[in-house]
Amino acid sequence: MVVFLYVVGYIYIDSWPEELANLSVFENLRVIRGRLLYNGAYSLIVRNLSMSSLGLRSLTEISSGLVLLEANPNLCYLDTVPWTNIFRNSRQAILKTTNKPQNVCEKEGHVCFQLCANAECWGFGPSQCVNCSGLLRGNDCVESCNVEEGEPREVVDKGQCIMCHPECMLQNGSQTCFGPSAEQCVACAHYRDGTTCVKHCPSGKKMDSFVPVWKYADKDGECQLCPVNCSHS
Ligand SMILES: *[C@@H]1O[C@H](CO)[C@@H](O)[C@H](O)[C@H]1NC(C)=O
Ligand SMILES: *[C@@H]1O[C@H](CO)[C@@H](O)[C@H](O)[C@H]1NC(C)=O
Ligand SMILES: *[C@@H]1O[C@H](CO)[C@@H](O)[C@H](O)[C@H]1NC(C)=O
Ligand SMILES: *[C@@H]1O[C@H](CO)[C@@H](O)[C@H](O)[C@H]1NC(C)=O
Ligand SMILES: *[C@@H]1O[C@H](CO)[C@@H](O)[C@H](O)[C@H]1NC(C)=O
Repeated sequence: MVVFLYVVGYIYIDSWPEELANLSVFENLRVIRGRLLYNGAYSLIVRNLSMSSLGLRSLTEISSGLVLLEANPNLCYLDTVPWTNIFRNSRQAILKTTNKPQNVCEKEGHVCFQLCANAECWGFGPSQCVNCSGLLRGNDCVESCNVEEGEPREVVDKGQCIMCHPECMLQNGSQTCFGPSAEQCVACAHYRDGTTCVKHCPSGKKMDSFVPVWKYADKDGECQLCPVNCSHS
């Protein structure tokens, strides 16, 4: 699970390791509250850096304060960020001075990945879209999920590709699962124990009680309880 970051005050960055091409260490930063502002005015200041994109792909809200981007000679992807959607009040604005001209950026190919919705992004490639026009796999915008072919097989849930459980039997030309768990397979790859697909029927496993459970697979691949007497599968 991803833990998103919230900054209460402001972010001020004026030096950064040359070899890092973006602020991806902050890729999980979701909100800058701006309750405390730099110089009483700014909630995000990025100056004098050599990087080519901000890469703040999770940033959806700057609650208060101005954004100042200045003297970043290589910085692209500034006009591809929907700043007005990120701001929360009408006094907020972005001040940009002496960065790389954004039309030069475009000519050099610093454009959003083609599946970014509305050509909005924080940087190069499928992981930097603000929103996807297609579907989302992990952090990447993709055209389609592996529902009926391709591996691993997936199911689409709320615009995202969710991997089927490895114990699901791959279906060809129809969907393999309804969700991520081993209880949501269309069919089991190995055996079925109650509602769950399993690799082996439980043999000597302590399930809910302290009494070990012994099961064997019947001819349909369903796990059946051994007679009380049996000691192993
Ligand atoms: C961000 O920077 C890191 C480290 O320099 C690099 O590996 C990564 O590819 C960059 N991501 C983008 C989207 O430019
Ligand atoms: C900009 O950063 C360089 C190092 O990358 C440093 O030498 C220089 O003093 C900085 N300039 C300002 C105005 O902060
Ligand atoms: C991105 O999509 C979400 C929901 O899918 C929506 O709430 C949000 O407004 C969109 N953002 C932009 C900038 O369009
Ligand atoms: C689907 O195709 C794969 C590879 O051709 C095969 O191994 C598998 O048994 C097929 N699954 C079904 C349910 O037909
Ligand atoms: C256990 O197995 C023996 C034969 O090996 C049989 O006589 C006995 O009835 C079985 N007990 C139970 C509870 O099934």
